[in-house]
Amino acid sequence: MAESKVFIFDTTLRDGEQVPGCKLNTTEKVELALELEALGVDIIEAGFPISSPGDFESVAQISKIIKNATVCGLSRAVQKDIETAADALKSAKRPRIHTGIGTSDFHIKAKFNATPEEILQRAVQAVKWARNFVDDVEFYAEDAGRTDNDYLARVVEAVIAAGATTVNIPDTTGYCLPNQYGDKIAWLVNNVPNIDKAVISCHCHNDLGLATANSIAGVMNGARQIECTINGLGERAGNTSLEEVVMVLKQHKHLGLYTDIKTQKLNPMSRLVADTMRTPVQVNKAIVGANAFSHSSGIHQDGFLKDSLTYEIINPEEVGAEGSKIVLTARSGRSALAHRFHKLGYQFTRNDIDILYQRFLQVADTKKEVNEEDLHQLAKAYSPQPVIAL
Ligand code: KIV
Ligand code: ZN
Repeated sequence: MAESKVFIFDTTLRDGEQVPGCKLNTTEKVELALELEALGVDIIEAGFPISSPGDFESVAQISKIIKNATVCGLSRAVQKDIETAADALKSAKRPRIHTGIGTSDFHIKAKFNATPEEILQRAVQAVKWARNFVDDVEFYAEDAGRTDNDYLARVVEAVIAAGATTVNIPDTTGYCLPNQYGDKIAWLVNNVPNIDKAVISCHCHNDLGLATANSIAGVMNGARQIECTINGLGERAGNTSLEEVVMVLKQHKHLGLYTDIKTQKLNPMSRLVADTMRTPVQVNKAIVGANAFSHSSGIHQDGFLKDSLTYEIINPEEVGAEGSKIVLTARSGRSALAHRFHKLGYQFTRNDIDILYQRFLQVADTKKEVNEEDLHQLAKAYSPQPVIAL
């Protein structure tokens, strides 16, 4: 089976930057955009140009400097928004306007006080306005996750006929289950006659912790673009995490899907975004968390030390992480203790380790983690002249 590419649409600089406290200035946005391009993302959503003069400037500067990736600007289905986005993107080598409108009953009634037919007309009109400026137009059906599938299919067919080249199916509220989201994409593939004229995109939020699973369900059912952010940053509980979806596709080659992301850059990129946005990464975050390659319980450590594949499915080097760590806590075992002593240059027999292990546990029970200094103290107390390998 020929492999099929999944386009990576990074929205760290737009949806990610909407997180309170994560706001970036133009210099910071340009620096991150250059790194995102080096990481290999296909599309950089650089901002929402009408939202503020600062964001307009950021999109304009990014458009000037990015050589290979598509640069995208967000807009509502409003003429002035679209004109402003086009203006901000005018220097881009590959400009894309991302426009759209809410399509669920919640949005149609509560937000717009409109009818489904009126919303459909506004959607079509917005795409036509955008096509006056650029050939690459993405349409988002906001809250598609809670939109009736028949109506969604009509909207998607109409915006593709109007010139949309990508159709974004956001699970804006992170409500869908993976099978529901996957079925929604399959429904569009099977019920929109002109669907082959556009790329289907997944834009999933993480309110129930399902954003990555939903995006993967989307591409397994025919979508070929994933909208995601570094470290999963984004509105409320965040967006799909770029590093997670990329590594899911890399690990599960049988899906026949690949991305062009240079995975060794994932951890450095995560750190850069965390520092620039002043938002630390949770320690247990998949792929980029501080504990993603740490082993601390005796059972795991013993297996890992015999063969790393027993407890690690990813080689840390493959994602640019520092390396696997054997952390010593009161839950650690003898093999881990022997391993750490050995790494510090001590050569103890099995009998030595049996005795040292009891002393180690006494220290470990008083602390969160036993560090190198503690190990030196234990070794010194055990033997006045421990053998140290040179
Ligand atoms: O979550 C969402 O629906 C969005 C759209 C603006 C694409 O961010
Ligand atoms: Zn979003």
